[in-house]
Amino acid sequence: MKIPRLVILISGSGSNLQAILEAIEHGQITAVPSLIVSNRKDAYGLVRAEKAGVLTAYFPFKPYRDADKSREQYDADLAELIRPYHPNLVILAGWMHILSAAFLEHFPDKVINLHPALPGQFAGTHAIQRAFAAYQRGEIEHTGCMVHYTVPEVDAGPVIAQAEVPILPTDSLVDLETRMHQTEHKLLVTAVQTILAED
Ligand code: GAR
Repeated sequence: MKIPRLVILISGSGSNLQAILEAIEHGQITAVPSLIVSNRKDAYGLVRAEKAGVLTAYFPFKPYRDADKSREQYDADLAELIRPYHPNLVILAGWMHILSAAFLEHFPDKVINLHPALPGQFAGTHAIQRAFAAYQRGEIEHTGCMVHYTVPEVDAGPVIAQAEVPILPTDSLVDLETRMHQTEHKLLVTAVQTILAED
């Protein structure tokens, strides 16, 4: 049996990347992390990847913007960077750059995204903060997170797994963020296990 190959895209702390690497190490996910890509140089996730001995690449958008190159060109070149690794799954784990069809068309049904909100809620950045504010205004009673197949629309697409995250009246934003991340780490590992089992 061929071991599935993962390419993981990050932009920040990489705690979800870490959850995947640990699940691989502990035999909960049978896969090889072939490449970690970050669009931010100072993303701590790059340090986590290097500590785990996983190949990394830094691929920023800024040179494209500075040269008046399009987002589609960046997306197509990013796909070219990743393609030689023949990923069974491309995981957007805190990747904060919207990917167009110029990327997605190269990996049909293989790109999944983690988002810290329930389907249809708080798409885009600062989702936890916006859910916390909505709770304070009495608009929601809980929030959640989801893993979904990636489509050109931001933080939308067929849902693979989702989980509710309670908000308590005594919560600070940091409390909610901590609870969210703990839930995300489990959800992402479960979603990856589910997809690889179907592959
Ligand atoms: C996670 O909360 C993830 O859901 C979110 O970025 C964070 C990354 O944390 N992604 C989005 O908001 C995508 N729209 P991490 O770097 O510690 O894994």
